[in-house]
Amino acid sequence: MCGIIGRVGDGNALEPLLTGLENLEYRGYDSAGVAVQNGSGINVEKRSGKVEELKSSIGDPLQGEVGIGHTRWSTHGPPTDANAHPHTDESEDVAVVHNGIIENYTELKERLAANGYEFTSDTDTEVIPHLVQYYLDAGYDSERAFRQAIDELEGSYAVTAMVSGEHVLYAARRGSPLVVGMEDGEYFLASDVPAFLEYTDSVIYLEDGDVVVVDADGVEFTDLEGNPVVREPETVEWDPEQAGKGEYDHFMLKEIHEQPTSLSQAIEGRIDSAGGRIALADFEPGTFADIDSVQFVACGTSYHAALYGSLALNQAGVQSTALLANEYSVSAPPIDDDTLVIAVTQSGETADTLTALRQAAREGADTLTLTNVVGSTAAREADDALFIRAGPEIGVAATKTFSSQAVMLTLLAQRIAADLRGEPPADLEALLPELESMPAAIDDVLAESAATTIARRYRNSEAYFFIGRGLGYPVALEGALKFKEITYEHAEGFASGELKHGPLALVTPETPVFAIFTGEEDEKTLKNAEEAQTRGAPVIAVCPDDHPAVAVADDHLSIPDTEPDLAGLIANVQLQLVSYHAADLLDRPIDKPRNLAKSVTVE
Ligand code: M6R
Repeated sequence: MCGIIGRVGDGNALEPLLTGLENLEYRGYDSAGVAVQNGSGINVEKRSGKVEELKSSIGDPLQGEVGIGHTRWSTHGPPTDANAHPHTDESEDVAVVHNGIIENYTELKERLAANGYEFTSDTDTEVIPHLVQYYLDAGYDSERAFRQAIDELEGSYAVTAMVSGEHVLYAARRGSPLVVGMEDGEYFLASDVPAFLEYTDSVIYLEDGDVVVVDADGVEFTDLEGNPVVREPETVEWDPEQAGKGEYDHFMLKEIHEQPTSLSQAIEGRIDSAGGRIALADFEPGTFADIDSVQFVACGTSYHAALYGSLALNQAGVQSTALLANEYSVSAPPIDDDTLVIAVTQSGETADTLTALRQAAREGADTLTLTNVVGSTAAREADDALFIRAGPEIGVAATKTFSSQAVMLTLLAQRIAADLRGEPPADLEALLPELESMPAAIDDVLAESAATTIARRYRNSEAYFFIGRGLGYPVALEGALKFKEITYEHAEGFASGELKHGPLALVTPETPVFAIFTGEEDEKTLKNAEEAQTRGAPVIAVCPDDHPAVAVADDHLSIPDTEPDLAGLIANVQLQLVSYHAADLLDRPIDKPRNLAKSVTVE
């Protein structure tokens, strides 16, 4: 996975390209590069490291109205200057940026090398400019050479290319996202909308198989054979300020603090308190009446949200399983016409999740995507899509999108159960007002949290454990993932009752245990926490102030007293803050943790 950008218009392309790369850096930050052209050939600047380093290495600003740029998350070859994109042919007549994997690159490389084309990188991408050049050398015009080269690629790609001496960009998509932005004679191609959001909110998403040619006169959409295809323009609702850091030191902290707003947006118009029902207008009453089981597929944090949704469904009496999308191809449970498969994915572009979603569709399941990104591949490919409306999330560590996913899945669980039974579940009446007051409850937690003190107190520990029961279990997993992801410290999440079945061997006075209390068999969780405490581990109880665990625990992170369906999600906000402050104390690059990227478009 990587971020790509292209720009055609009046004036110098360099600034919008670099801005675009900064806004796409969440997709990868191993190396970065740009290429622009000014009528006297293509100029390329690229290097390992972040976009900031690329910017400071560009001495004389590159001039040119047309350009492409790339920020990389390495797949083929380490993050060296040579492996950074854009890649060109030897004479720098053709420059290419690419996101995805070219599966037949070895074969193409051997063929091109046998024809005298010389390679200078370890990447799969480098075959593309050489292949385009091969067809230019054979007498094809640029567009035909590009189409022919694309036709020969196997694998996944979003590719943008330019040919020396032309005011044109060529692009193609298969399996990796690409979107066009348009405003008054200025055109962009990018992996994601935030790349150009400060220039335009008018976009057209490419579909798989599309080839576009962009010049100063406009954008032409065709299929690979050159037949015109119609793609409708859309206006994106995110505003550029949402995509900035504002007053915060990190996107992650900003996004943690955005949760009251993002949750309000998620539930707005979807809860009918007076009528005592979930009003998901996206689905007609009875939509789910024939469903006999639900399977969730997801990865990482989205998997934890999926597990939350699956447990909520089970508790509402609906058969459901949450599966890691990357395991689905080897161990999917049986599917029939009445199986609903729900892909949970913030980005809508995670390759593992897309593969599982496609498999489920092939096997006859109804499919639904829960995502944050309108126009994403998962949203477009599933039978239905439900949007969490969280706004752009830039920090690689998912925060506000987890909360919105879990809340939306709580609503959906209630709605599916109601459709199946023909009446709302009994506990819905109590849940609805608590859901409505959840944004305010999170505001209170954010206004007064002991997270900084706790992070400081336990900063030199050997490992960090998180335990929870029922709906507290996915929260324990999520608390641990967040902690390890941004602090690089060892952290593990366990079902509370599992601690004594093995993990207790790891417990020492140097391993604080965060115990999440949601109101589901809390007395057992407290016993499990005490078992750790007896072995010397400090226990941090995440629970309401009047909870019995407060008297037992060494420390306390406070949450309001609420329904078990929601308590864990508020506890999760406290855990997000602990992870954030622990990482900050360690001076970690919180928004861009090492080796990771926001959206993983390879399997
Ligand atoms: O875009 P997705 O929700 O499909 O992404 C899935 C995971 O890659 C993602 O949640 C990842 O685990 C996050 N970095 C966790 O903070």
